[in-house]
Amino acid sequence: MRKFDCSKWPNRVNCFNFFPLQLFALLSLQVTLTVSHSSWDQWWAYDGISGPSYWGILNPKWSHCTKGRKQSPIDINPDSLLFDPGLESIQIIKGDIINGDLINTGRGLKLGVDINSSITITSGPLSYQYSINHMIFHYGTQDDRGSEHRINGVSFPGELQLYFYNSQLYHNWTQAAQESNGLAVIAVLIHIASSSEEETTATSFNSIVKSIEHIKYKGTSHKLESMSIHKLLPTLDHYITYEGSLTEPPCHETVQWIVLNKPLYATYQQLSLIRNSLNIDGYGDNYRPIQLTNYRCVRTNILREFNTTIDEMSQSMKDNHHEFNKKRICGNKGYVTYKANIKRDLDGD
Ligand SMILES: *[C@@H]1O[C@H](CO)[C@@H](O)[C@H](O)[C@H]1NC(C)=O
Ligand SMILES: *[C@@H]1O[C@H](CO)[C@@H](O)[C@H](O)[C@H]1NC(C)=O
Ligand SMILES: *[C@@H]1O[C@H](CO)[C@@H](O)[C@H](O)[C@H]1NC(C)=O
Repeated sequence: MRKFDCSKWPNRVNCFNFFPLQLFALLSLQVTLTVSHSSWDQWWAYDGISGPSYWGILNPKWSHCTKGRKQSPIDINPDSLLFDPGLESIQIIKGDIINGDLINTGRGLKLGVDINSSITITSGPLSYQYSINHMIFHYGTQDDRGSEHRINGVSFPGELQLYFYNSQLYHNWTQAAQESNGLAVIAVLIHIASSSEEETTATSFNSIVKSIEHIKYKGTSHKLESMSIHKLLPTLDHYITYEGSLTEPPCHETVQWIVLNKPLYATYQQLSLIRNSLNIDGYGDNYRPIQLTNYRCVRTNILREFNTTIDEMSQSMKDNHHEFNKKRICGNKGYVTYKANIKRDLDGD
């Protein structure tokens, strides 16, 4: 059990009367406490007594955090990806410029996107159109951690997540987050630039990094204007995709995850500035631990080292049509698997 931290308790609960072992006693008490609804809704953290292992029991509405079997993030195992040649590039069909508020949430960095700077995506694994709502930047205290998703057990120093909601079926984020096909998230892993060439591409974060000094303290925000999504993101052609959940309470299992093959580069200085200037609660690692994949289908269109060409593959799909239909696609691992992929391989094309 990590150090007990009283700063995360909701107002009006006298933290010092409690010890971690009394958590369960406290939980049964919570209904009788005069804590306002909104403070319980916000009462979760990345470590300690309100950390990830407790999210599911802190609030009955968050039970999926513990009971769900399609949770995120996951460790992406390159040997059990299903290659799906039908996955097309993600398309940005509307918008480019993002205006919004960069917020120090006390857990990390969030960019709430203004309603009128809407960005809409579709295609790839998405059957609907999805509009942007916010972005979250996850990072760690050291270079060897920070991303939520891992590739072959390897963490990256950070992960930028762009959250979209299904704007064809639903009115707003809140509604979509609870409904089927509600959300889509584009996740981009962060690499530290290790050559001057990579450093020159590490400009995506400039506008975010420049704002950091204005949001040093929890609850502060700063207007961010005219950030181009096309300039921010690497190519949307190749990715890994699976059905999962929000990586924070209430952990709704309504998210189509799209983890891009290409990373974003940040310089060591940019990351240090974020780590050191932003005052957040707890220890500064703001990512959820890996969740079980539970036989979910994790698909990719990243062409790597495999023994057939696409033509041969579609031929073999036709030839094996009957057998293919009989099997659960993801159970059929022998068909085509994605090879390769130590850490640095990920950004090759
Ligand atoms: C969005 O709305 C804000 C406030 O109403 C306004 O200042 C801004 O210019 C608008 N941006 C766009 C892209 O329309
Ligand atoms: C979201 O949409 C639902 C359904 O139309 C509506 O009831 C709710 O008030 C909306 N919430 C917000 C925050 O706008
Ligand atoms: C692909 O071919 C190589 C060399 O021909 C072989 O070693 C490897 O086992 C093959 N992989 C699969 C998945 O068949």
